[in-house]
This record gives sequence, C-alpha cells and structure tokens, in this order.
Amino acid sequence: MQPSQPAGASAQPAADKVVVDQVCKHYGSLQVLQDISFTIPARRIACLVGPTGCGKTTLLNIIGGFEQPSEGRVLVDGADVAGPSPASGYVSQQANLFPWLTVWDNVRFAARFGRGLRKNWSSHKELDERAAAFLERVGLARARNQYPYQISGGMKARAALGRVLLTNPSLLLLDEPFAALDALTRSDMHRLLLNMFRDDHERTGLLITHDIEEGLLLSDTIYVMSRWPAKIIHRIDVPFAWPRDYDSLVQAPELAQLKHRILELLRPIMQSE
Ligand SMILES: Nc1ncnc2c1ncn2[C@@H]1O[C@H](COP(=O)(O)OP(=O)(O)OP(=O)(O)O)[C@@H](O)[C@H]1O
Ligand SMILES: [Mg+2]
Repeated sequence: MQPSQPAGASAQPAADKVVVDQVCKHYGSLQVLQDISFTIPARRIACLVGPTGCGKTTLLNIIGGFEQPSEGRVLVDGADVAGPSPASGYVSQQANLFPWLTVWDNVRFAARFGRGLRKNWSSHKELDERAAAFLERVGLARARNQYPYQISGGMKARAALGRVLLTNPSLLLLDEPFAALDALTRSDMHRLLLNMFRDDHERTGLLITHDIEEGLLLSDTIYVMSRWPAKIIHRIDVPFAWPRDYDSLVQAPELAQLKHRILELLRPIMQSE
C-alpha cells in the first residue's frame, strides 16, 4: 500500500520535519522506550498507537523537548531538540484552560504572552482579528465571553485547539486530544481538523490515539508500539488521498477494512502481559 500525497505537494520527496533516531528512555531501572526510529516528513501526520502505559506520551514529550532521551536523538527541522519550542504546538487530553479567563482571553493568551510568539503579529488589532477568525473557525465565536465552567467539554477541546493554532506552530503534537469527548463531539472535531488540514497543507503533526478510526481519518502513517520496552513493531501507510472529506471517508469500506486489520494487529499486543 502506497502512502498518499497531500494535495499541493510537489513531486519532490518531502523533507523530514521530525527525525527520531534510535531513541531509548529509562526511568531508573524501568526501560520504557527501546531503539525507536521513524521520521515525519513535512506536511504529513504520523500517528502512534499502542497499549496504555507503553510510552507514547514519553515519546511525544521527548519530541516536544519536555524530556530528554536516555540514548539516541530527535531532530526537528534538522536541529537537535534542546527544549520546548513554541514552534511545536501541544494539545493534551485535558484542555487546560485558565478558569479565570474567558474563551476569548484563553485563546489569545499563548499568542500574546508566549516566549517568541510576539513575532507572529504586529499589533493588538491584528492579533484580535486573527483570534476572532480562529474562534469563528473552531465554532466558538458566540462563546467568546464565556468562562470555561460555562462551556461544554467539546467547546473546551475546540478552545484548546484554537489557542494552539493561533500560535502558528509548524509542528502539532496531539496527545489524545479528543479522548474525553463523546463519540458525536469527537466526530465534529475530526471534521473540523480535516477541514483545517484541507485549508492549510503546511501542517505537520504527531497524533497519539487509542481510537484507530481517528488515526486512520487524520494521519498518513500509523506506528504501532509494543509493551515495555516499547518498540515500533508495525507501520501502516494510510492510503487515503488529501484533501479528505470526513463524510465520505467515514463511510468508505476501505476505512472499515483497515480498522479491522489494525485491531487484529493490536489484539495480541493488548492481551500480552
Ligand atoms: N517522569 C517519569 N518518571 C518516572 N516514570 C515515568 C515518568 N513519565 C512516565 N513514566 C512511566 O513511563 C511509562 C510510560 O508512560 P507514558 O505516559 O509515556 O505511557 P502512555 O503510552 O502515554 O500511556 P497512556 O496510553 O495510558 O497515556 C509508565 O510506566 C509511566 O509510569
Ligand atoms: Mg499517554
């Protein structure tokens, strides 16, 4: 199965945005990651799936610069990751909104005060216009003056996504960003993200999920990790062309077939001790 080309991609092979090279991670005597190597080309989304506790978040934290590998290295844009960078936009399972700020101020907060992010806008007026456009895009324009306790879980997830996108990251690190949402709200988020990727092909990302369908809808390549010490044991190239239309893709027989195949691959890994 051949990986698909994102729309607008040239015939040239895409440069590697992220290179993970023989990464190992130990916490004391516990070896969590062993010899993890893969690359994420520019404008592609990679996805990690694997048993709970195997080390997916640890790997994402290493790529984001929050953790150091015990061995091996990670390059982003050709340079060793030395620490967290605003160029990597991180969205976790918890929306982590400031409870004392409105949706509007939460979304603008990182772009306004984040280290190195001031360069993305030249005046408060411009920042406000961009923030308003992002709120509109994530469907929160009418909730801008509400506080986090006044909005639903899905709205919080959309605010967290809008806040990160407003900082204009060149790499999206998504750690189960929709895991806490109900199935319908989650499908709304999938549609929203696919529409965003359709409009902006520059996005490159790494998505962690336990939802195989989410991985197939949103990514180009799925890496399956084993239990400790976690290695990458399968790579699945997702064959769906970009731009992707949520409503037709979600009904495609190929999606159901691939989902079944990956679940079969995962079953023995999940059942092993
Ligand atoms: N800072 C730390 N110190 C010690 N151990 C840690 C630390 N961070 C993670 N671990 C351990 O490393 C292992 C992998 O954790 P990690 O959070 O990366 O797993 P995960 O695959 O993301 O799990 P889940 O699917 O449940 O989110 C766990 O056993 C965890 O307890
Ligand atoms: Mg995790």
